[in-house]
Amino acid sequence: MPVDAATALLAWYDAHARSLPWRAPPGAPATDPYRVWLSEIMLQQTSVAAVRAYFEAFTRSWPTVEALAAAEEAAVMSAWAGLGYYARARNLIACARAVVARGGFPSDEAGLRALPGIGRYTAAAVAAIAFGRRAVVVDANVERVVSRLFGIATPLPASRSEIYAHAEAITPEQRAGDFAQALMDLGSTICTSRSPACAICPLLECCAAVRTGEPAAFPFKLAKKARPLRHGTAYWASREGQVLLRRRPPRGLLGGMRALPSGPWGDGPPPGDDAPFPAAWTPIGTVAHVFTHFALELSVVAAPAPAIALDGEWWPIDRIDEAGLPTLFAKAATLAQNMAKIGESC
Ligand code: ADE
Repeated sequence: MPVDAATALLAWYDAHARSLPWRAPPGAPATDPYRVWLSEIMLQQTSVAAVRAYFEAFTRSWPTVEALAAAEEAAVMSAWAGLGYYARARNLIACARAVVARGGFPSDEAGLRALPGIGRYTAAAVAAIAFGRRAVVVDANVERVVSRLFGIATPLPASRSEIYAHAEAITPEQRAGDFAQALMDLGSTICTSRSPACAICPLLECCAAVRTGEPAAFPFKLAKKARPLRHGTAYWASREGQVLLRRRPPRGLLGGMRALPSGPWGDGPPPGDDAPFPAAWTPIGTVAHVFTHFALELSVVAAPAPAIALDGEWWPIDRIDEAGLPTLFAKAATLAQNMAKIGESC
């Protein structure tokens, strides 16, 4: 590949960089490391489009790392609701507190990696984007662009070290943060998975994949294992316009989040006998949700709550969207409300 691929990519970025709320314009001094770090944590496994509104809301509520470190954990978990991968939110608070305790963000990859929730990718991204360090930043977009540029025939995930070595070889000494973000922008706007727009790509002349005639076939991937399907039940217990919510145990899936009471999620059919208390439970439908390691079919059952003291929190049903429910339980709540409306009108 010609040595000026980085130059061509940076020139393209200067003209076409996406304007994003956490980003400095091309060539400008880096923005606040807090904003870079927060955006990078939010962007793990989540699209730019989904992250924008959350980033704006978080930085309005907690404009600095000190403010976030002082926040109540429950408030941060609620603000994160809907973004998914909730371990990120727990680590976010732990990381903010560790940063404040040490007097600011470290500027190098090793120091960043020692913080909670910061792995190889995030450390490199923050070091490059926030501190102008030369660091090799490889996310899924960069993997695709680099695999195509060099025509890497080894399938993912075995090709990761090869991709990293090629990315390292083309990372410039200067503007490593802009370079990383240029690769990301190229990957999400031009060098897309299914139909890359090669005709307008700034790297067209040096791309090995385009010369094969099938650039979209890269990166090669080993066939994925199917996700197992699990089943469970969620319980909608209502009383005087309120519904019973419980916080999930602090560790584990959706840990610490407000939720409808729900039993264990297993491999067989819904147990149905894991109700949190006896009531006239009636099935009202199912909702589906896909987690990283399994798909879930959640049966939703509803009942008027018995007039006894119950563990949990009574939440006004007409303000359920303010409860910070994770998406799975927000879907179950929508189903229950829709069924209640149908019930009223029939
Ligand atoms: N995905 C992850 N980090 C990003 C960034 N800084 N800009 C655009 N997309 C990203």
